[in-house]
Formats: sequence, C-alpha cells, structure tokens
Amino acid sequence: EKAGYKHFMLKEINEQPRAISDTVSGNYKLITDGKLDGIDLNKIRRIQIVACGTSYHAGLVGKFYIENFSNIPTEVDYASEYRYRNPVLTEDTLVVSITQSGETADTLAAMRLAKEKGAKVLTVCNVIGSTATREADSVIYTYAGPEISVASTKAFTTQLTVLFMLSLLLGRERGVLDSSEFDRRLKLLMEVPGKIESFLNVEREEEVVKKIALEFYRSKDALYLGRHVNYPIALEGALKLKEISYIHAEGYPAGEMKHGPIALIDENVPSVFVATEGKVLEKIVSNIEEVKARKGKVISVTNPGIKEVYELSDYVINVPEVDEFLSPIVNVVPLQLFAYYIADFLGYDVDQPRNLAKSVTVE
Ligand code: F6R
Repeated sequence: EKAGYKHFMLKEINEQPRAISDTVSGNYKLITDGKLDGIDLNKIRRIQIVACGTSYHAGLVGKFYIENFSNIPTEVDYASEYRYRNPVLTEDTLVVSITQSGETADTLAAMRLAKEKGAKVLTVCNVIGSTATREADSVIYTYAGPEISVASTKAFTTQLTVLFMLSLLLGRERGVLDSSEFDRRLKLLMEVPGKIESFLNVEREEEVVKKIALEFYRSKDALYLGRHVNYPIALEGALKLKEISYIHAEGYPAGEMKHGPIALIDENVPSVFVATEGKVLEKIVSNIEEVKARKGKVISVTNPGIKEVYELSDYVINVPEVDEFLSPIVNVVPLQLFAYYIADFLGYDVDQPRNLAKSVTVE
C-alpha cells in the first residue's frame, strides 16, 4: 500500500503533482461558475480564516491570496485561540475553516461559534462527509486522497491550491480581477504540478536534499526564514522538522531576525532560507548576509541562476521558478523532504511521530 516507498510520508510527498491537478480539476467548474452554495458573495466585507497546525499555515498564505486578488480584509486565527477570544463577527463576515480531517475539535468549535454569531462558514476540507463538511454552509474539497502520514504534506499543498482558486473567484466576482487576469492566473496554477514533478523526477533534486540532510541530521536547532508569501512556508518547514525529527526549529519572517532571533546564530545553527524569485528577493539576500556575518550555515531554497543567493549560501536546493504567489506550493516540497530525510537518518518512525495523532478530536 506504500507503493514501493519506505514511508507513507514519502509516498504522499511524491503524490503532490497528482493531488494538486485533481484539486484544480475537481474545483474548476465551481470556480469558473463563480458561485459558492449557501453564500452570497456580494455580502462579504471581511474574512476570518480559522485552522490549526499545518492548515493554519495554509491560512496564512491564503490571507495573501485573498487580500491581493480580491481586496477583502482577511484575518487568520488559530482555531484554539479564536474560540475563546470573543471575535468580532457580523453577518457580512465569511469564516473560512481549513481542515484536512474535518474532525479537529478546536476548528469545529470555532466554526460553531461563528455560526452562532450569524456568520457564514465555508470549509476547505479533504474528507467527504466529515463533521466540518456537514456543519458548514458551504464546502470546497481538496482532492488530496487519503493522507496516512501524521505529518501533513499533500493536504497542505492542495489547501493552498484551493485558497488560490477561491481568491481568484472572489476577485473576479467583486470586479478586482478581470476575466483575462483570472484566466491567466488559473493557467499559472495549472503549471504547478508539472514544476513539482520536474523537481522530483527530472532534476532529481531529491538527491541534493538528502545529501544536505545527511550533513545536518545531528543538529540540535534550526532556523527557517522566509518573507512575504513564503514566510508561512518557513513556519511550515520548521513545524515539519519539529514534529518528525524532534529537532528544535523555529520559523520566522526573515525581517524579524534583527529584533531578537539573530542572537541564536552561531556556526552550529543552520538557517534554511526560502529565497526564490519575487519582490522581496533582495531583502532576503540582505538577511542571508546578516546570518553569514555571524558565521551561521545557510541552506537556501532558490531558483536556478540567482547568483547572489548561490554565492552567499553554503548549500543550495534549486526549485523551478513559478509565479511568486504560487511559489509557496513548490517551495514547501524540499522542506518536506528535508524533514523526512533527517527523521529517517535519525531512525525515527516517520509516519507515527511520538505524542501526535493524525486527527486531534479532543481540545
Ligand atoms: C502537521 C499536522 C497538524 C494538522 C492539524 C490540523 O503536520 O498534520 O498540524 O495540520 O492538526 O489538522 P486538520 O487539518 O485535520 O484540522
């Protein structure tokens, strides 16, 4: 059932091109028709995203998508915090819950609170018939297929896919994106599965990731740094490493380094930078310089041909270049693999990490 892979996690990482294409085709009609069942799109004035863990990180990227493409003010909350903080909810608020399982207790509680207060709830979910899909006013499915590994991979990239599509739908319906821009962005999304496929199977960058993992699997700490749409990817990379390899890792927006975390840097602490093409690339390059000046080891996820990053970094993982807004979907893949190989080198049970359950049905 692992289809020749050593662990479900590795199988699921490799299933991402298919999972993303299935999610695009499964939702294509919904998105191009421009309607969401049970929700009046013209009434929405603000959006609140609620989720836990990896799904919360997808929500952080979703905020960039929705604000950028549809101009709707968007907040993102941990469901466990939202449910107890008396959020300001009005009838023109759309609450979007993101949950792979559809059974996470805190996420369900946040959804129930939102409904009680009169808001509409849309859920982005991977499991047909789950509690979240039954309780929400509207559902958009991710078509990742069953995710067995406790560490979430293909659920995350398909959540990003749905959030990107949802933001295009909202943008077009609200007149922020014209039809040609809508089509252009949707086409760019359709190129993503092929780019990940080429990263995994043509360029064989997996071997590069594995070699770097072999250099660093004895580390005690690691920092993950990114900016803009890739700041949540830094958080996600750090979470993946923590949960399966039990190495202490922190994800930060790279611009925050000098406000505290840079004090952690020395020659024993690797920093993983997400440094691909985009409007903040130059800023990231200066952040890499700051780490190098303190003798930190730098591993960069970057695109071929970015000379400054190449020259400053100790190790480089090349991912194919894609549109900046779609880069999180590609950039997270090497971080998933990096965590996977480190955990495997350490001999841990990758699919069943200690203290964790696949679905957190208690508070
Ligand atoms: C991390 C992971 C968890 C889940 C979180 C939410 O790899 O899997 O952080 O993302 O427990 O689960 P769902 O999405 O099922 O609500």
